[in-house]
Amino acid sequence: MPGIVIVGTQWGDEAKGKITDFLAGDADCVVRYNGGANAGHTVVVDGKTYKFRLIPSGVLQGKKVYIGNGVVVDPEVLLGELEDLRREGFNPDLHVSDRAHVVFDFHKLEDGLQEGLKGNLRAGTTRRGIGPTYSDKTARFGIRISDLLDEAVLRSKLKILVDFKQRLISHVYNEDVRLDEEEIFRKALNFGRSISSYVCDVSAEINGALDRGETVIFEGAQGTLLDIDHGIYPYGTSSNTIAGGACTGVGVSPKKIDKIIGVMKAYISRVGTGPVPTELKGEIGDRIREAGGEYGTVTGRPRRVGWLDLVPVKYSIRINGIDELVVTKLDVLNGVSPLKICIGYEYEGRRLDTIPANIRIFERCKPIYEELEGWDANINWKRVAEKGYDALPRQAKEYLERIEEHVKVPIRIVSVGPERRETIVLGG
Ligand code: IMP
Repeated sequence: MPGIVIVGTQWGDEAKGKITDFLAGDADCVVRYNGGANAGHTVVVDGKTYKFRLIPSGVLQGKKVYIGNGVVVDPEVLLGELEDLRREGFNPDLHVSDRAHVVFDFHKLEDGLQEGLKGNLRAGTTRRGIGPTYSDKTARFGIRISDLLDEAVLRSKLKILVDFKQRLISHVYNEDVRLDEEEIFRKALNFGRSISSYVCDVSAEINGALDRGETVIFEGAQGTLLDIDHGIYPYGTSSNTIAGGACTGVGVSPKKIDKIIGVMKAYISRVGTGPVPTELKGEIGDRIREAGGEYGTVTGRPRRVGWLDLVPVKYSIRINGIDELVVTKLDVLNGVSPLKICIGYEYEGRRLDTIPANIRIFERCKPIYEELEGWDANINWKRVAEKGYDALPRQAKEYLERIEEHVKVPIRIVSVGPERRETIVLGG
């Protein structure tokens, strides 16, 4: 199974980082295909926590890691992550696409200014300049990694871009900020020099690896409901987070993808604005938030949490073509009984089984719940993980089986703690 995509089935933060790290043990390379430093992938190995925003999670397994053209690269974050990894004794075998776009400080400024103007259309962004960088890419204003390696091209492109941004900042947003073109140019050039040895044609490298029969993991960031086309627009991010994004964001044919793994949390969380039908605002929500450490990796914001909603999962299965599911953070639901699973929505007396495009309809969707018995609060999950699936509490097995019955896709992996080894492979 050489080409494997890992995709989030909810609003992101499904613990894809942990699963990518786990599966990378059997892979040759991991390539990130979308998003930027808005992501926060957490991996815990032997009690030590690592957080990645740009570098693919397979790096701790010593695999070749790639940043695809679909990613927007924040130079400061990338260099900082490389430095941190080296300090920890890792020597990342990193490769960065010459076609990836670069995030500048003025993109981050613009991100905040846009949010200020948008009123209730505001997505509650991470303010990492993601939207403005992707907008510049699509408007063909963007600066790509390859431009950083060519002084003349960089200078001429920045001249136009900085001038445009200055007009925007001064005359549209009426902000008293002066962009220093020379300083921006110098910083960009220096970044290009620092990373020049990593820059390559990632599409050529990954296609070569696949042709040699190597296993490549395509690591998605964020989740399906944040996808620019198929997410809860406009309350999502600006990239294609879905499995199809792996093809455009790396430069491989859909024919090269052999398996698509969907990662879903045992409940839902959402950081940012927009409707969340199963949101829990009271005591149970607080309890799940604390038990699950549901605070944004990038922003530290408390995440909104809620009962597991299978409508987004089924929607994700359709959009992504998911072959197998991974259920994460099952342990977080310890002692919560009864548990509720949303199996559909009710809208004005009608049943809806998918996510409507019209946000006003989605806002008024009421969850239809099924109740299940919860399990004990005191489970030794490390022991359960060692023993495997049979050692799961009966109620936890019923919870998983009920999910499978509803979504009709097999669950292959269950994660019961943040550590790499707190992972159960079903039938494995
Ligand atoms: P942006 O990607 O920073 O522009 O933010 C757009 C929306 O996506 C906001 O609601 C963010 O909270 C959300 N978002 C962006 N990245 C992530 C992520 O990695 N996990 C969860 N939510 C995210």
